[in-house]
Amino acid sequence: IFEIIGMIIIAYLLGSIPTGLWIGKYIYHKDIRKLGSGNIGTTNTFRTLGFKAGVVVLIFDVLKGTLAASQPYFLGISGTVNPLLIGLFASLGHTVSIFDNFHGGKAVATSAGILLAYNPFLFLIACLIFIGIMCLTSMVSAASITAITAIFLIALFIRDWILAIVAGILTAIVLYRHISNIRRILAGKESMVNFGLGYYL
Ligand code: G3P
Repeated sequence: IFEIIGMIIIAYLLGSIPTGLWIGKYIYHKDIRKLGSGNIGTTNTFRTLGFKAGVVVLIFDVLKGTLAASQPYFLGISGTVNPLLIGLFASLGHTVSIFDNFHGGKAVATSAGILLAYNPFLFLIACLIFIGIMCLTSMVSAASITAITAIFLIALFIRDWILAIVAGILTAIVLYRHISNIRRILAGKESMVNFGLGYYL
């Protein structure tokens, strides 16, 4: 039980690390919460700080989830403690970060990282869905929402109930955190990624 509590705390603290906020603050001297969409995630980092910073935040935010969810594997107890249940706390940390006054990001990259630790094949499927919707709509938010919902539905379909529960909770969090994006999508005002010119709007 102490192991489980320890893993949960580590997962929460790892997830809490506000990579985008800190890189913006300490390297670029910009507060990305006041720029672009105001989010501290990968998309808004690309949008406001540029490609290099975006890639770094993407890798770190995914890795936070992967590391957090990998703890039961590291301890050799993944048979008894499902990595998803520990990883979940990294996504919670990312959205309700102790280092950002209990604010935070939209849980997309970190949740993807959890899935990568749990099932790399499903992670790949999620990435393909994400890229597909991105190409169709040019909207990261639409791609994020679709990919996480798809994983929830796939989990139900393959009867992986723990995945269904965790993906269900994460889908609810992702949808909740994307309310402003959904409003903008419906109003036709959501930011779009401009692949052709190679910069982000
Ligand atoms: O991962 C967050 C993304 O889905 C939307 O980000 O900055 O456009 O609100 P943003």
